[in-house]
Amino acid sequence: MKVLLLGSGELGREVAIEFIRRGCYVIAADRYENAPAMSVAQEFQVLNMNVPKCLSELIDKIKPDVIVPEIEAIATEVLIQAESDGINIVPSARAANLTMNREGIREFACGLGVPTSGYFFATTFNEIKEKIKDFTFPVIIKPVQSSSGKGQTLVEKYDDLEKSFNYAIENSRGDSQKVIIEEFIKFDYEITLLTVNAVNGITFVPPIQHRQENGDYQESWQGIEMDKETLKRAQEIAGKVVTALAATATNNSKGYGIYGVELFIRGKDVIFSEVSPRPHDTGMVTLISQIKSEFALHVEAILGYPIDTPIANIAASKAIVMHGEGAPNIGNISSALTSVAFPKYTNMVYDFDKPIVNGERRCGVILSLAESVDKALEKAKKIHDKLELKVTKK
Ligand SMILES: Nc1ncnc2c1ncn2[C@@H]1O[C@H](COP(=O)(O)OP(=O)(O)OP(=O)(O)O)[C@@H](O)[C@H]1O
Ligand SMILES: [Mg+2]
Repeated sequence: MKVLLLGSGELGREVAIEFIRRGCYVIAADRYENAPAMSVAQEFQVLNMNVPKCLSELIDKIKPDVIVPEIEAIATEVLIQAESDGINIVPSARAANLTMNREGIREFACGLGVPTSGYFFATTFNEIKEKIKDFTFPVIIKPVQSSSGKGQTLVEKYDDLEKSFNYAIENSRGDSQKVIIEEFIKFDYEITLLTVNAVNGITFVPPIQHRQENGDYQESWQGIEMDKETLKRAQEIAGKVVTALAATATNNSKGYGIYGVELFIRGKDVIFSEVSPRPHDTGMVTLISQIKSEFALHVEAILGYPIDTPIANIAASKAIVMHGEGAPNIGNISSALTSVAFPKYTNMVYDFDKPIVNGERRCGVILSLAESVDKALEKAKKIHDKLELKVTKK
């Protein structure tokens, strides 16, 4: 089976490995050379996947059986055409199209009766001035097209609105001029509920809690004791959204794969935030907690294998974020690992092998197993503190 992977970052690298392990041929595509997944795939292609012509030419040349989007920034109209031409788009072209834009997925979820924060969309500051009257501060402003917290600000007072609106527009992906203004939810905690849709139906991965800074994930962990009723409610919401997204599949697309459903938990309330129809960065913790990681589950679902509910050990992940201009190097791994309990509890440092850092970039992840979440997080932090992170000018 010929798999075209659109997006070749650290998550794509794990997806590529899982496909290759199961006998598939992977072509890893991204906008730059030496992207993480390219060094493991059988072939790679460099192009701007957001430009319709470039993407359709690539699909015509490769003639893949399956297209697996790993990022949001893709000309999804080309995927819609490819699906109607008989290519299996994971999980469906429409799902990729709806979730690349906050407006698409928010309206879709609300149409299903799923609870969300209060929100409105705007393209001008005048519109915001009018519609903000029904809201109390703080609010969050985000570009409708962005990820990893780009262009997002928490606005405490009316006077800061215009600055934040401009910041969101400047940091929009592509030439989108629209923002979403959301009610700020004072949640107790937030989770990613990884939800797999496969030939045997829907399966939930044990919930992953995480901590974000400026809209970007820092740590995630599994092994939390959620109140049973609240977990059930979370699963109902995730199941509803995933089933509806999967149902948009046509032709040879099946709606199969893993979906990262982001939920806020406040008391017994579960509030839907967003969903990505692919493995989730906070789900990297499953690389150590589960026999089948989120990447293995994604690939097996796509290949039509039945999926069992995974058992997750207590574990944590911590992102290695590097700063500067130049080539990143993660050093001192061996002594960082030996500085924490060994060999009773396992720890790993994964290097994403990214060629360059411009400002700030996630370059690796620390994975840690322990007898409690607190211990796992503490060990990950200890390892992080001992690593030598260097960015050297090229
Ligand atoms: N309405 C809200 N109320 C409270 N916190 C919020 C709200 N919206 C976003 N956040 C916080 O900001 C984080 C990032 O927001 P969101 O997931 O919408 O952005 P993103 O750019 O899509 O991030 P990513 O691509 O990493 O998922 C959330 O995980 C949450 O911690
Ligand atoms: Mg998010």
